[in-house]
Amino acid sequence: MTSRTPMSGADTVRSPAARTPTPADVAAMVKARGGITIERHLTDAQRAAALAADVRRGLTAVPKELPPTWFYDAAGSMLFGKITELPEYYQTRAERAILSERAPEVVAELAAVLAGGVDTFIELGSGISDKTRLLLAALAGTGRLRRFIPFDVDAEALGRAGVAARAAHPGLAVHAVVGDFRQHLGLLPAPRTSQQATAGDRAATGTLVAFLGGTIGNLRPPERTELLSALRDRVGPREQGGPRSGPGEHPEPGAALLLGTDLLKDPARLVAAYDDSAGVTAAFNRNLLTVLNRELGGDFDLRGFAHVAAWDPENRWIEMRLRSVRPQKAYLAALDLTVSFEEGEEVRTEISAKFDRPAVERDLAAAGWRLHRWWTDPNEDFALSLALAL
Ligand SMILES: C[S@@+](CC[C@H](N)C(=O)[O-])C[C@H]1O[C@@H](n2cnc3c(N)ncnc32)[C@H](O)[C@@H]1O
Repeated sequence: MTSRTPMSGADTVRSPAARTPTPADVAAMVKARGGITIERHLTDAQRAAALAADVRRGLTAVPKELPPTWFYDAAGSMLFGKITELPEYYQTRAERAILSERAPEVVAELAAVLAGGVDTFIELGSGISDKTRLLLAALAGTGRLRRFIPFDVDAEALGRAGVAARAAHPGLAVHAVVGDFRQHLGLLPAPRTSQQATAGDRAATGTLVAFLGGTIGNLRPPERTELLSALRDRVGPREQGGPRSGPGEHPEPGAALLLGTDLLKDPARLVAAYDDSAGVTAAFNRNLLTVLNRELGGDFDLRGFAHVAAWDPENRWIEMRLRSVRPQKAYLAALDLTVSFEEGEEVRTEISAKFDRPAVERDLAAAGWRLHRWWTDPNEDFALSLALAL
């Protein structure tokens, strides 16, 4: 999509490599407002093309499937916010409880393992970065944090995340990135290198990446490895052997990952978390069809699809599906595609894998990360892992 250019300041303009950017390109790619830079790797046109490709592939496959990425338009993000407050949805409360209790400890660990501490804080799938405020405050308290890079597919949520971060920390550079973490991690601003740290400069060069909310569980194992490897390649130390700091030497920038994962538990509780009694998750699931109707000229009848949440014990994940309640067809004008559904036929819209510590450790190790610390909430519903880039 967009090109990869060397990192400079928070007001950097990135351009398509193939041609000189037009003023319209620039306006679409970078929008600075009130000290917040928003960098777009998914312009509206690119987003539409990516959605079209995913939908054509997914709805012509057997069985039918759509990636959860497209849940998150403004209404989807708002509905997800409501889900996080539901009595059945323990995940957000559990992760917030860990962060409330452990944020100072996380930051102390980071100061010990990343020479000089953290100067760049990246958050993948940030949404509005609500829980993240606890971490931001603790990191800002070190006096080393220079920039915050929330990364999400939803530009609107990023704007809100950026405004809140700047309001709380006026000196912080906020460089939001609109992109797809399945393909744009190579375009993240690069860590500051030891060469960029001048003699006598004691500033931090370390990077912390947070990937919270259990979102990693929406990916299948090979996709998880691909994402975590791409991340490690982008932010991790370039030399084998991890961060170095010999006498008189600048340390190589190090990187750490704070990963939120939902833990294995009674399947009945898991299913209830994805099929709440108020029907908010059902509305969130069906909103995907609203996105297809609006963005691809679809004519899906939302009443023709029932929300389904099911536990798959073999894969150890929850599946969300939309089940056609009758034989029906839907037409997507932008794709000139008619999709037929039999009665009872399902479209899988999300998987949400559940983990234990060995599973997290394996996923991390397969992608060049080493588990360093592991924290859970008191009920052991959710875990936060601190991992170091090897
Ligand atoms: C489950 S929500 C978690 C939000 C927040 N991190 C939290 O913990 O509450 C998933 C977030 O990831 C974003 N997202 C989903 N797929 C994405 C993708 N492929 N690339 C970038 N962001 C994505 C969504 O827009 C949404 O904000």
